Amino acid sequence: MEQTINRGLDGVYIDESAICFIDGAKGQLIYAGYDIRELAGKASFEEVTYLLWHGALPTAAQLEEFRRQLAPNFNLPEAVYQLFRALPQGADPMLALHSAVSLLGSLDAAANGVDEDNVKRIGMRLLPQFPLLVAAFQRIRNGQEPVQPRADLSVAGNFLYTLTGEEPTPAATRVMDVALVLHAEHGSNASTFVARATASTLTDVYSAIGAAVGALKGPLHGGANTAVMKALESIGSVAGVEPYVLDILGQKGGRVMGFGHRVYKVLDPRAVILKDVSRALAEESGDSKWFEMSLEMERVMDREMAKKGKEVKPNVDFFSASVYRMLGFPGDIYTPIFAVARIAGWMAHLYEQYADNRLMRPRLAYTGVMDKKFVALEQR
Ligand code: SDX
Repeated sequence: MEQTINRGLDGVYIDESAICFIDGAKGQLIYAGYDIRELAGKASFEEVTYLLWHGALPTAAQLEEFRRQLAPNFNLPEAVYQLFRALPQGADPMLALHSAVSLLGSLDAAANGVDEDNVKRIGMRLLPQFPLLVAAFQRIRNGQEPVQPRADLSVAGNFLYTLTGEEPTPAATRVMDVALVLHAEHGSNASTFVARATASTLTDVYSAIGAAVGALKGPLHGGANTAVMKALESIGSVAGVEPYVLDILGQKGGRVMGFGHRVYKVLDPRAVILKDVSRALAEESGDSKWFEMSLEMERVMDREMAKKGKEVKPNVDFFSASVYRMLGFPGDIYTPIFAVARIAGWMAHLYEQYADNRLMRPRLAYTGVMDKKFVALEQR
Protein backbone atom coordinates (compact mmCIF):
# COMPACT_ATOMS: atom_id res chain seq x y z
CA MET A 1 0.00 0.00 0.00
CA GLU A 2 1.32 3.44 -0.97
CA GLN A 3 2.21 5.54 2.05
CA THR A 4 0.90 9.06 1.59
CA ILE A 5 1.60 11.03 4.72
CA ASN A 6 -0.50 14.11 5.45
CA ARG A 7 1.03 15.44 8.64
CA GLY A 8 -1.60 16.94 10.88
CA LEU A 9 -4.17 15.27 8.57
CA ASP A 10 -3.84 18.42 6.46
CA GLY A 11 -6.26 18.26 3.52
CA VAL A 12 -7.58 14.80 4.47
CA TYR A 13 -11.33 14.20 4.15
CA ILE A 14 -12.44 11.63 6.73
CA ASP A 15 -16.08 11.35 5.62
CA GLU A 16 -19.03 13.21 4.14
CA SER A 17 -21.01 15.60 6.32
CA ALA A 18 -24.06 17.81 5.88
CA ILE A 19 -23.38 19.99 8.92
CA CYS A 20 -20.85 22.65 7.98
CA PHE A 21 -18.97 24.05 4.99
CA ILE A 22 -15.90 26.28 5.17
CA ASP A 23 -14.34 28.03 2.19
CA GLY A 24 -10.95 29.00 3.55
CA ALA A 25 -10.00 31.03 0.50
CA LYS A 26 -13.16 33.15 0.57
CA GLY A 27 -13.53 33.35 4.34
CA GLN A 28 -16.94 31.74 4.18
CA LEU A 29 -18.57 29.67 6.92
CA ILE A 30 -21.88 27.91 6.30
CA TYR A 31 -23.94 26.07 8.94
CA ALA A 32 -26.25 23.62 7.13
CA GLY A 33 -26.81 26.00 4.23
CA TYR A 34 -26.81 29.33 6.10
CA ASP A 35 -23.97 31.84 6.04
CA ILE A 36 -22.69 32.59 9.55
CA ARG A 37 -23.07 36.32 8.79
CA GLU A 38 -26.80 35.71 8.30
CA LEU A 39 -27.19 33.69 11.47
CA ALA A 40 -25.15 35.71 13.98
CA GLY A 41 -27.40 38.29 15.60
CA LYS A 42 -30.54 37.03 13.85
CA ALA A 43 -30.88 33.43 15.07
CA SER A 44 -30.54 32.46 18.73
CA PHE A 45 -28.10 29.79 19.90
CA GLU A 46 -31.07 27.45 20.43
CA GLU A 47 -32.26 28.01 16.84
CA VAL A 48 -28.76 27.39 15.52
CA THR A 49 -28.39 24.25 17.62
CA TYR A 50 -31.70 23.00 16.21
CA LEU A 51 -30.39 23.76 12.71
CA LEU A 52 -27.17 21.82 13.33
CA TRP A 53 -29.04 18.87 14.82
CA HIS A 54 -31.94 18.73 12.34
CA GLY A 55 -30.52 20.28 9.18
CA ALA A 56 -33.26 22.95 9.05
CA LEU A 57 -34.12 26.04 11.04
CA PRO A 58 -37.06 25.44 13.38
CA THR A 59 -40.51 26.94 12.90
CA ALA A 60 -41.75 29.00 15.85
CA ALA A 61 -43.68 25.96 17.12
CA GLN A 62 -40.68 23.65 16.74
CA LEU A 63 -38.45 26.11 18.58
CA GLU A 64 -40.94 26.41 21.41
CA GLU A 65 -41.08 22.63 21.70
CA PHE A 66 -37.27 22.42 21.60
CA ARG A 67 -37.01 24.99 24.40
CA ARG A 68 -39.74 23.19 26.37
CA GLN A 69 -37.74 19.97 26.17
CA LEU A 70 -34.49 21.68 27.19
CA ALA A 71 -35.99 23.58 30.13
CA PRO A 72 -36.10 20.73 32.72
CA ASN A 73 -32.50 19.85 31.85
CA PHE A 74 -31.20 23.15 33.19
CA ASN A 75 -30.04 21.42 36.34
CA LEU A 76 -26.99 19.67 37.74
CA PRO A 77 -26.80 16.76 40.17
CA GLU A 78 -25.43 17.57 43.62
CA ALA A 79 -22.49 15.22 42.93
CA VAL A 80 -21.10 17.74 40.41
CA TYR A 81 -20.95 20.44 43.08
CA GLN A 82 -19.22 17.95 45.39
CA LEU A 83 -16.70 17.17 42.65
CA PHE A 84 -15.91 20.87 42.14
CA ARG A 85 -15.61 21.39 45.90
CA ALA A 86 -13.13 18.49 46.08
CA LEU A 87 -10.79 20.03 43.50
CA PRO A 88 -7.70 21.87 44.72
CA GLN A 89 -7.42 25.66 44.43
CA GLY A 90 -5.97 26.50 41.04
CA ALA A 91 -7.47 23.43 39.34
CA ASP A 92 -7.67 23.85 35.58
CA PRO A 93 -11.26 24.71 34.51
CA MET A 94 -11.05 22.49 31.40
CA LEU A 95 -9.84 19.51 33.42
CA ALA A 96 -12.71 20.22 35.83
CA LEU A 97 -15.14 20.24 32.90
CA HIS A 98 -13.65 17.00 31.61
CA SER A 99 -14.10 15.37 35.04
CA ALA A 100 -17.66 16.65 35.27
CA VAL A 101 -18.57 15.17 31.88
CA SER A 102 -17.24 11.78 33.03
CA LEU A 103 -19.18 12.10 36.27
CA LEU A 104 -22.41 12.91 34.41
CA GLY A 105 -21.79 9.79 32.32
CA SER A 106 -21.26 7.66 35.43
CA LEU A 107 -24.54 8.98 36.88
CA ASP A 108 -26.47 8.16 33.69
CA ALA A 109 -27.67 4.56 33.90
CA ALA A 110 -28.29 4.57 30.13
CA ALA A 111 -24.97 6.19 29.20
CA ASN A 112 -23.81 3.42 26.89
CA GLY A 113 -26.57 3.34 24.28
CA VAL A 114 -25.52 4.81 20.93
CA ASP A 115 -28.87 4.46 19.16
CA GLU A 116 -30.28 7.70 17.75
CA ASP A 117 -32.85 8.23 20.52
CA ASN A 118 -30.34 7.81 23.30
CA VAL A 119 -27.71 10.00 21.67
CA LYS A 120 -30.34 12.72 21.20
CA ARG A 121 -31.49 12.34 24.81
CA ILE A 122 -27.94 12.88 26.04
CA GLY A 123 -27.44 15.86 23.71
CA MET A 124 -30.59 17.48 25.09
CA ARG A 125 -29.13 17.10 28.57
CA LEU A 126 -25.55 18.18 27.94
CA LEU A 127 -26.45 21.32 25.98
CA PRO A 128 -28.16 23.05 28.94
CA GLN A 129 -25.79 21.49 31.48
CA PHE A 130 -22.55 22.80 29.97
CA PRO A 131 -23.15 26.49 30.84
CA LEU A 132 -24.16 25.48 34.36
CA LEU A 133 -20.98 23.42 34.80
CA VAL A 134 -18.74 26.33 33.84
CA ALA A 135 -20.63 28.80 36.01
CA ALA A 136 -20.79 26.45 39.02
CA PHE A 137 -17.05 25.72 38.81
CA GLN A 138 -16.28 29.43 38.72
CA ARG A 139 -18.49 30.20 41.73
CA ILE A 140 -17.35 27.28 43.85
CA ARG A 141 -13.66 28.07 43.38
CA ASN A 142 -14.47 31.64 44.45
CA GLY A 143 -16.05 30.34 47.64
CA GLN A 144 -19.57 31.19 46.44
CA GLU A 145 -22.62 28.94 46.41
CA PRO A 146 -23.79 27.78 42.97
CA VAL A 147 -26.85 29.62 41.65
CA GLN A 148 -29.86 27.54 40.67
CA PRO A 149 -30.70 28.05 36.99
CA ARG A 150 -34.04 29.31 35.72
CA ALA A 151 -36.07 27.24 33.30
CA ASP A 152 -37.33 30.42 31.59
CA LEU A 153 -33.87 31.60 30.53
CA SER A 154 -31.94 30.70 27.39
CA VAL A 155 -28.58 28.93 27.37
CA ALA A 156 -26.84 32.33 27.13
CA GLY A 157 -29.10 33.84 29.80
CA ASN A 158 -28.64 30.94 32.18
CA PHE A 159 -24.89 31.02 31.76
CA LEU A 160 -24.80 34.70 32.78
CA TYR A 161 -27.39 34.24 35.51
CA THR A 162 -25.75 31.22 37.16
CA LEU A 163 -22.33 32.85 36.88
CA THR A 164 -23.27 36.15 38.51
CA GLY A 165 -26.48 35.41 40.40
CA GLU A 166 -27.97 38.52 38.83
CA GLU A 167 -30.61 38.94 36.16
CA PRO A 168 -28.55 39.36 32.98
CA THR A 169 -29.17 42.49 30.92
CA PRO A 170 -30.71 41.95 27.48
CA ALA A 171 -27.57 43.51 25.94
CA ALA A 172 -25.18 41.10 27.70
CA THR A 173 -27.43 38.14 26.87
CA ARG A 174 -27.42 39.19 23.19
CA VAL A 175 -23.63 39.43 23.08
CA MET A 176 -23.28 36.06 24.78
CA ASP A 177 -25.78 34.53 22.38
CA VAL A 178 -23.88 35.83 19.34
CA ALA A 179 -20.61 34.46 20.77
CA LEU A 180 -22.24 31.05 21.26
CA VAL A 181 -23.60 31.03 17.71
CA LEU A 182 -20.17 31.92 16.31
CA HIS A 183 -18.43 29.14 18.26
CA ALA A 184 -21.11 26.47 17.82
CA GLU A 185 -19.64 24.55 14.90
CA HIS A 186 -16.60 24.42 12.66
CA GLY A 187 -16.40 21.23 10.65
CA SER A 188 -13.63 18.76 11.29
CA ASN A 189 -11.64 20.87 13.73
CA ALA A 190 -9.38 18.98 16.14
CA SER A 191 -11.90 18.50 18.98
CA THR A 192 -14.74 17.52 16.65
CA PHE A 193 -12.47 15.10 14.83
CA VAL A 194 -11.49 13.60 18.19
CA ALA A 195 -15.17 13.32 19.18
CA ARG A 196 -15.96 11.51 15.93
CA ALA A 197 -12.89 9.28 16.11
CA THR A 198 -13.74 8.34 19.70
CA ALA A 199 -17.38 7.66 18.80
CA SER A 200 -16.22 5.52 15.87
CA THR A 201 -15.26 2.82 18.38
CA LEU A 202 -18.96 2.84 19.39
CA THR A 203 -18.06 4.03 22.84
CA ASP A 204 -20.58 6.24 24.66
CA VAL A 205 -21.38 9.92 24.08
CA TYR A 206 -19.86 11.07 27.39
CA SER A 207 -16.52 9.47 26.50
CA ALA A 208 -16.56 11.11 23.06
CA ILE A 209 -17.47 14.52 24.50
CA GLY A 210 -14.86 14.16 27.26
CA ALA A 211 -12.22 13.45 24.62
CA ALA A 212 -13.36 16.52 22.68
CA VAL A 213 -13.10 18.69 25.79
CA GLY A 214 -9.54 17.44 26.24
CA ALA A 215 -8.66 18.33 22.64
CA LEU A 216 -10.30 21.76 22.82
CA LYS A 217 -8.19 22.65 25.88
CA GLY A 218 -4.92 22.87 23.92
CA PRO A 219 -3.52 26.33 23.07
CA LEU A 220 -3.36 25.52 19.35
CA HIS A 221 -7.16 25.04 19.45
CA GLY A 222 -9.76 26.42 21.89
CA GLY A 223 -7.15 27.15 24.55
CA ALA A 224 -5.94 30.02 22.38
CA ASN A 225 -8.61 32.44 23.68
CA THR A 226 -7.34 32.04 27.24
CA ALA A 227 -3.76 32.39 25.93
CA VAL A 228 -4.71 35.61 24.08
CA MET A 229 -6.03 37.15 27.30
CA LYS A 230 -2.97 36.03 29.22
CA ALA A 231 -0.80 37.74 26.59
CA LEU A 232 -2.85 40.97 26.66
CA GLU A 233 -2.74 41.05 30.46
CA SER A 234 1.02 40.50 30.53
CA ILE A 235 1.58 43.21 27.88
CA GLY A 236 -0.61 45.68 29.77
CA SER A 237 -0.62 48.61 27.30
CA VAL A 238 -0.91 49.46 23.60
CA ALA A 239 2.75 50.53 23.59
CA GLY A 240 3.80 47.10 24.81
CA VAL A 241 2.13 45.20 21.96
CA GLU A 242 4.72 45.74 19.23
CA PRO A 243 7.78 44.61 21.25
CA TYR A 244 5.78 41.60 22.47
CA VAL A 245 4.84 40.49 18.94
CA LEU A 246 8.35 41.08 17.60
CA ASP A 247 9.79 39.03 20.46
CA ILE A 248 7.47 36.08 19.75
CA LEU A 249 8.09 36.22 15.99
CA GLY A 250 11.84 36.39 16.65
CA GLN A 251 11.69 33.01 18.41
CA LYS A 252 12.08 29.81 16.39
CA GLY A 253 8.56 28.51 15.70
CA GLY A 254 7.09 31.45 17.62
CA ARG A 255 3.29 31.66 17.37
CA VAL A 256 1.19 34.64 18.35
CA MET A 257 -1.94 33.23 19.96
CA GLY A 258 -5.26 33.98 18.25
CA PHE A 259 -3.68 34.26 14.79
CA GLY A 260 -3.53 31.81 11.91
CA HIS A 261 -5.73 28.95 10.87
CA ARG A 262 -5.35 25.62 9.11
CA VAL A 263 -8.31 26.25 6.78
CA TYR A 264 -8.74 30.04 6.49
CA LYS A 265 -6.25 31.73 4.25
CA VAL A 266 -8.11 35.04 4.64
CA LEU A 267 -9.75 36.59 7.68
CA ASP A 268 -11.95 34.20 9.69
CA PRO A 269 -15.54 35.52 9.22
CA ARG A 270 -16.20 34.93 12.92
CA ALA A 271 -13.31 37.24 13.81
CA VAL A 272 -14.87 39.96 11.63
CA ILE A 273 -18.11 39.78 13.65
CA LEU A 274 -16.36 39.48 17.02
CA LYS A 275 -14.20 42.49 16.18
CA ASP A 276 -17.37 44.56 15.70
CA VAL A 277 -18.79 43.22 18.96
CA SER A 278 -15.55 44.04 20.75
CA ARG A 279 -15.52 47.58 19.33
CA ALA A 280 -19.15 48.15 20.35
CA LEU A 281 -18.51 46.88 23.90
CA ALA A 282 -15.45 49.11 24.19
CA GLU A 283 -17.46 52.16 23.11
CA GLU A 284 -20.37 51.37 25.44
CA SER A 285 -18.24 50.60 28.47
CA GLY A 286 -15.70 53.38 27.94
CA ASP A 287 -13.02 50.75 28.66
CA SER A 288 -11.31 50.51 25.30
CA LYS A 289 -7.93 49.21 26.49
CA TRP A 290 -8.42 45.56 25.49
CA PHE A 291 -9.88 46.43 22.11
CA GLU A 292 -7.15 48.98 21.36
CA MET A 293 -4.44 46.46 22.27
CA SER A 294 -6.10 43.85 20.05
CA LEU A 295 -6.21 46.31 17.12
CA GLU A 296 -2.54 47.09 17.61
CA MET A 297 -1.66 43.39 17.68
CA GLU A 298 -3.56 42.86 14.43
CA ARG A 299 -1.75 45.84 12.86
CA VAL A 300 1.72 44.63 13.86
CA MET A 301 0.97 41.05 12.76
CA ASP A 302 -0.31 42.27 9.37
CA ARG A 303 2.85 44.31 8.84
CA GLU A 304 5.28 41.59 9.98
CA MET A 305 3.57 38.80 8.07
CA ALA A 306 3.44 40.94 4.91
CA LYS A 307 7.24 41.26 5.15
CA LYS A 308 7.38 37.44 4.91
CA GLY A 309 4.80 37.36 2.12
CA LYS A 310 2.29 35.65 4.43
CA GLU A 311 -1.23 36.40 5.57
CA VAL A 312 -1.73 35.27 9.14
CA LYS A 313 -4.98 36.77 10.32
CA PRO A 314 -6.93 36.79 13.59
CA ASN A 315 -9.04 33.68 14.17
CA VAL A 316 -12.20 33.18 16.27
CA ASP A 317 -10.16 33.04 19.48
CA PHE A 318 -8.63 36.49 19.06
CA PHE A 319 -11.41 39.06 19.47
CA SER A 320 -13.48 36.72 21.65
CA ALA A 321 -10.85 37.32 24.35
CA SER A 322 -11.48 41.07 24.59
CA VAL A 323 -15.25 40.48 24.29
CA TYR A 324 -15.26 38.07 27.24
CA ARG A 325 -13.01 40.38 29.22
CA MET A 326 -15.44 43.25 28.76
CA LEU A 327 -18.29 40.97 29.85
CA GLY A 328 -16.30 40.51 33.06
CA PHE A 329 -15.25 36.86 32.76
CA PRO A 330 -11.93 35.61 34.16
CA GLY A 331 -9.47 34.61 31.41
CA ASP A 332 -9.19 30.93 32.24
CA ILE A 333 -12.89 30.22 31.63
CA TYR A 334 -12.82 31.46 28.01
CA THR A 335 -12.02 27.97 26.74
CA PRO A 336 -14.78 26.34 28.82
CA ILE A 337 -17.14 28.97 27.34
CA PHE A 338 -16.00 27.81 23.89
CA ALA A 339 -17.09 24.30 24.97
CA VAL A 340 -20.51 25.64 26.07
CA ALA A 341 -21.04 26.61 22.42
CA ARG A 342 -19.21 23.76 20.70
CA ILE A 343 -21.25 21.07 22.47
CA ALA A 344 -23.87 21.92 19.80
CA GLY A 345 -21.46 21.08 16.98
CA TRP A 346 -19.91 18.07 18.72
CA MET A 347 -23.35 16.53 19.23
CA ALA A 348 -24.36 17.19 15.62
CA HIS A 349 -21.26 15.28 14.51
CA LEU A 350 -21.89 12.43 16.93
CA TYR A 351 -25.40 11.98 15.47
CA GLU A 352 -23.84 11.70 12.02
CA GLN A 353 -21.02 9.43 13.15
CA TYR A 354 -23.18 6.94 15.05
CA ALA A 355 -25.79 6.91 12.28
CA ASP A 356 -23.32 5.62 9.69
CA ASN A 357 -20.22 4.51 11.51
CA ARG A 358 -16.91 3.16 10.37
CA LEU A 359 -14.05 2.72 12.84
CA MET A 360 -11.37 5.38 12.32
CA ARG A 361 -8.07 3.66 12.11
CA PRO A 362 -5.39 5.53 10.18
CA ARG A 363 -1.83 4.34 9.84
CA LEU A 364 1.69 5.50 10.66
CA ALA A 365 4.60 5.01 8.29
CA TYR A 366 7.10 3.00 10.31
CA THR A 367 10.61 4.46 10.38
CA GLY A 368 12.04 2.20 13.09
CA VAL A 369 14.52 -0.65 12.75
CA MET A 370 13.68 -4.17 11.55
CA ASP A 371 15.16 -7.63 12.03
CA LYS A 372 16.59 -7.23 15.51
CA LYS A 373 17.54 -10.47 17.24
CA PHE A 374 15.93 -10.93 20.65
CA VAL A 375 18.42 -11.25 23.52
CA ALA A 376 17.23 -12.69 26.80
CA LEU A 377 17.11 -10.23 29.71
CA GLU A 378 19.99 -11.79 31.61
CA GLN A 379 22.27 -11.45 28.58
CA ARG A 380 21.46 -7.80 27.78
C1 SDX B 1 -9.33 27.25 16.65
O1 SDX B 1 -9.64 24.02 12.97
C2 SDX B 1 -10.59 24.76 13.43
O2 SDX B 1 -11.61 24.93 12.82
C3 SDX B 1 -10.32 25.38 14.78
C4 SDX B 1 -11.28 26.51 15.22
C5 SDX B 1 -12.69 25.98 15.51
O3 SDX B 1 -13.63 26.78 15.43
O4 SDX B 1 -12.80 24.82 15.89
O5 SDX B 1 -11.34 27.52 14.23
C6 SDX B 1 -10.81 27.14 16.54
O6 SDX B 1 -8.72 26.33 17.14
C7 SDX B 1 -8.63 28.48 16.12
C8 SDX B 1 -7.11 28.40 16.18
C9 SDX B 1 -6.61 28.79 17.57
N1 SDX B 1 -5.16 28.66 17.70
C10 SDX B 1 -4.31 29.68 17.79
O7 SDX B 1 -4.70 30.85 17.71
C11 SDX B 1 -2.88 29.34 18.07
C12 SDX B 1 -1.96 30.14 17.17
N2 SDX B 1 -2.10 29.68 15.81
C13 SDX B 1 -1.24 28.76 15.27
O8 SDX B 1 -0.34 28.06 16.04
C14 SDX B 1 -1.60 28.14 13.94
O9 SDX B 1 -1.95 29.16 13.07
C15 SDX B 1 -2.69 27.05 13.95
C16 SDX B 1 -2.37 25.97 14.96
C17 SDX B 1 -4.06 27.61 14.23
C18 SDX B 1 -2.70 26.41 12.54
O10 SDX B 1 -1.55 25.68 12.38
P1 SDX B 1 -1.03 25.09 10.99
O11 SDX B 1 -2.09 25.01 10.01
O12 SDX B 1 -0.29 23.86 11.33
O13 SDX B 1 -0.05 26.23 10.49
P2 SDX B 1 1.44 26.48 10.91
O14 SDX B 1 1.57 26.62 12.38
O15 SDX B 1 2.31 25.42 10.28
O16 SDX B 1 1.73 27.86 10.26
C19 SDX B 1 1.91 28.02 8.85
C20 SDX B 1 2.72 29.28 8.64
C21 SDX B 1 3.97 29.23 9.49
O17 SDX B 1 5.01 29.37 8.58
P3 SDX B 1 6.26 28.37 8.63
O18 SDX B 1 6.88 28.51 9.99
O19 SDX B 1 5.72 27.01 8.36
O20 SDX B 1 7.13 28.88 7.52
O21 SDX B 1 2.01 30.43 9.08
C22 SDX B 1 2.72 31.13 10.12
C23 SDX B 1 3.96 30.38 10.42
O22 SDX B 1 4.98 31.27 10.12
N3 SDX B 1 1.85 31.20 11.29
C24 SDX B 1 2.05 31.98 12.35
C25 SDX B 1 0.95 31.79 13.18
N4 SDX B 1 0.12 30.91 12.62
C26 SDX B 1 0.67 30.56 11.46
N5 SDX B 1 3.05 32.79 12.68
C27 SDX B 1 2.93 33.43 13.86
N6 SDX B 1 1.89 33.30 14.69
C28 SDX B 1 0.89 32.49 14.38
N7 SDX B 1 -0.15 32.36 15.20
